Amino acid sequence: MALREIKFEDLEVASFIELQCRAISSKVGDSIAINALSGGVDSSVVSMLGHRALGNRLKTYFIDNGIMRAGEPESVVSTMEKCGVPVELVDARDEFFDALKGKSDPEEKRQAITDTFYRSVFGRLVKESGTRFLLQGTNFTDVEETVAGIKRQHNILEQLGIDTEAAYGYKVIEPIIQLRKPAVRAVGKALGLPQEVFNRPPFPGPALATRVIGVTTRQRIELVRQATVVVEQELAGIDAFQYMAILHADRVTGMREGKRDYGHQIEVRCWDSEDAVVGSPTRLPYEILETLASRITSEVPGVVSVTYNITPKPPSTIEAL
Ligand code: XMP
Repeated sequence: MALREIKFEDLEVASFIELQCRAISSKVGDSIAINALSGGVDSSVVSMLGHRALGNRLKTYFIDNGIMRAGEPESVVSTMEKCGVPVELVDARDEFFDALKGKSDPEEKRQAITDTFYRSVFGRLVKESGTRFLLQGTNFTDVEETVAGIKRQHNILEQLGIDTEAAYGYKVIEPIIQLRKPAVRAVGKALGLPQEVFNRPPFPGPALATRVIGVTTRQRIELVRQATVVVEQELAGIDAFQYMAILHADRVTGMREGKRDYGHQIEVRCWDSEDAVVGSPTRLPYEILETLASRITSEVPGVVSVTYNITPKPPSTIEAL
C-alpha cells in the first residue's frame, strides 16, 4: 500500500493541522468544496479542518439517510453549529430505503449505500453547488481493511482504483487518511471539538444498516434504533471502545403473558480495542447484562431474546455486517 501511516507517537498535532489546512486550500483554490458530515469523530475533525481552511467556501451537509440513531441528525447539526460550522440537513431517507429494498447480502447493502451517497445524493449536491471537491473523513484503518478485502468500507473509493471524477463528477479530499482513531481524536481535541465529539465511540458510515442482519426495512431499522438507545444509555459509563445492538434475521420462540411469542433477537456487542484492528469483548458486569436483557425485551416491541457476543476480533469483526 503506497499510503504511509502517521503513527500516534509521531504525530505533531499543530503542524499536522497547519499542513492539512494548507493542502485543502491549495487543492480547492478559489473554488468551493462540499463536506460530508456524519457526526462521528472522523468527519467532525474534517469539517473543522475544512472550515478553518476555507471558511464559508466550505458547504457542510448532514445527509439524513433514515438509518441514523435516535435524534442524531438534529444533535449533530446543533453541535457542529456551536463549533462555528454551519450545516445543512438534507432529507434523503426515501432514496436510501429504496436503494436498500430487498437486499440482505452485507456487501450488496454497503454497495447500495455507497452508490446512493456518492452518486445520487452527493452527485446532485455537487452539481447544484457548482463545486468539484468533496471533503471526507476516511482514516487509515478504513483503507487497510478494505484493501485487505475484509470489509468494503463505504468511504473507500480511490484506494480501490475508483476515479471519483469519472464516476461521480468530483474529486475527493481526505485530510486524515494517514491517521488511525487515537491520532484523529488528538487532532479533534486540538481543533476545539467538545470532548463528547472527539471521544465519541466510532459509528460506521452505513450506520444502523450494518446492525440489521437480513433485509433493511424502516420497521427493522426502528427496532435496532430503539435497542441502540438502551445499549448506549446503559453502557455510556463503561470504558469501552465501541458498543452496539444488532437485530438478527432469525426469530425465536419466546413467551409473553403466558402465550407463545415468536419474536426478534437482539445481540449486544461491547468492545475493548485500541483502533478497531483487533478487539476483545468487554467483561461487562453480569448485572449490566441482566439490565440490558430486561430493558430491551420490555422496551423494544417484539424482542424476546437478548444475547451478548463473547467472541474476539478476529474471527469476529466489530460490526455484524
Ligand atoms: P469491523 O466491523 O470491520 O469494524 O471490525 C471496524 C471499525 O470500522 C467501523 N466500520 C465502518 N465504518 N464504514 C465505516 O465508515 C463501514 O462500512 C464500516 N464498517 C465497519 C466499525 O464501526 C468499527 O469501528
